[in-house]
Amino acid sequence: MTHVAAPLADPDTFTAGPPWDLFSHLRAHEPVAWTPEEPPQSGFWSVTRHRDIVTVGRDWQTFTSSRGVSLEELDDEQLEHRTSLIDTDPPRHTTLRKIVAPSFGPKVVNGFETFLRGIVGHALDSALAMGTFDFVEHVSSQVPVRVLCRLLDVDDSVHTELTAWGDRLVGHTDPELADVLLGSVESEKYRLVPFRSPAALEVFEYGRALAAKRRAHPGSDLVTTLATAEIDGERLPQKDFDNYFLLLALAGQETTRQAVSLAALTLIEQPAALARLQEDPALVQGPILDEFLRWGPPVYHMRRTATRDAEIGGVPVTAGDKIAMWYPSGNRDSAVIPDADRFDLDRKSVDLLTFGKGGPHFCMGSFLARLELRVTLQELVARIDSIALAGPPERLRSTFVNGVKRMPLTVTLR
Ligand code: HEM
Repeated sequence: MTHVAAPLADPDTFTAGPPWDLFSHLRAHEPVAWTPEEPPQSGFWSVTRHRDIVTVGRDWQTFTSSRGVSLEELDDEQLEHRTSLIDTDPPRHTTLRKIVAPSFGPKVVNGFETFLRGIVGHALDSALAMGTFDFVEHVSSQVPVRVLCRLLDVDDSVHTELTAWGDRLVGHTDPELADVLLGSVESEKYRLVPFRSPAALEVFEYGRALAAKRRAHPGSDLVTTLATAEIDGERLPQKDFDNYFLLLALAGQETTRQAVSLAALTLIEQPAALARLQEDPALVQGPILDEFLRWGPPVYHMRRTATRDAEIGGVPVTAGDKIAMWYPSGNRDSAVIPDADRFDLDRKSVDLLTFGKGGPHFCMGSFLARLELRVTLQELVARIDSIALAGPPERLRSTFVNGVKRMPLTVTLR
C-alpha cells in the first residue's frame, strides 16, 4: 500500500519549505493519514485538519504528552531522564508550569517593550546599513536570544553560546548543524539526553553553574525562580531542573527567531501588505500580527500518543499509536479559516494553531513571542523603502522546526 503522507516522516521533504500541496491534499482526502517511518520507528498518524488538531491537543487524557512530544520513540529509561514540562500530563504538568508561568504573563512581558525596541533598533540599523546581508545572522537570530539573556540575567555576551547550543539541538537532523545526527550509531551514546545531542550536556552544565550562583545570591530572574522552586517542600530534582532549563533556553529563542525570518519572507512575497504596513507600522498588532504567525508558523508539529483505542475525525487509532498534529496545515484549513490560502491583513480574528490550541501545553511564551515579532516588524517596515531576496532562503532539515538557516536580503532605506 502506498502512503501519501509518507514524505512527512522525511526531514528532506522540508528543506524545500513546508509541503503546502501535500497538506492541502491530505486535508481534503485523508485528514488522518498513516505515515510510515523507517524501522525501528513504528510510524504515526498525521492529523492535518484544524478541528482534529484542536481535539487531539485538548484531550490530554486520551492523547498523552508523557511518551514525548517529538517523533523519536523513547523507552522508559530515556523518558525518566529526558522528561520536561512539555512531556508531562496534568496534574504534575500543572504544578511544574505554575513555577515559571507568572514570568511570562502579559504584564511582565509588556514591561520589556522599551528594552526590546532598543535591541531591535540596534540590530536593524547595523544590518540595514550593509544593504545586502543575511537577515538570519544579523537580525532574527540576534533579538530573541538577547531577550533570553535578560530573562536569565546573564551577560549579553553569552548570546553566541546560547545560539550555538540552540542550533545544535534543533539542528539534530541537519548534517550542517548537528554534531551527532539523530539516528546515527554515535547518537546511541546520547540516548539519555534531549535531542540525543551532546549540546544538551553543555546546556545542563551551564544551567547547573548558574543555579548554584543564584541559590547563593538570589535575583528576580528565571534561573533563580527555577533553582529555588519547591514542590511539596522539596527542590526540583536535578533532572527536572536540567530539562526545564534546557526547554526554556531553547523555546525562548529558536522558535521566535524563525517567526521573525518567516514574517520577513512574507513581507517580501506580499508587496501590497508591505506597502500598507509601511504607511502605518503601528498596524502590526492584533489579528494582523497573528496573520503573519498563521502564514509562517515556526513549529511543524507536536506529537501525542494514544492512551486507549480512540477515533480522530472518524478514523480509529489504537492505544500506543503516535499522532503528529501538523499546525501549519491546520492554519490553512478553509473549513475554519475562510479563504485560508490567502494572506489577508483584513481578517477580524485569526483562529491560530501556531502556539497550539486549547490544551494544557499552549505555548507559555506566546505573549513574549508576539511582542518580539510585533516590535521587530514595526521597526523593520518603518525603516525600509524596498526589500528583496538576494538569494534563495536555505531551510533547516527538520520535520519539527520550520527553520530558515540563511536568508540573504537586499534593502534600500527610506
Ligand atoms: C513564535 C514563537 C513560538 C512558537 C511558534 C511556539 C510554539 C509552541 C508550541 C506549538 C508549543 C506546544 C503547544 C502544545 O503542545 O499544545 C509551545 C510550548 C511551549 N513554549 Fe512556545 N513557541 C514560541 C515561543 C516561545 C517563547 C518565546 C517561549 C519562552 C521561553 C516559549 C516557551 C514555551 C514553553 C515553556 C512551552 C511548553 C508549555 C507546556 O508544556 O506547558 N515559547 N510553544
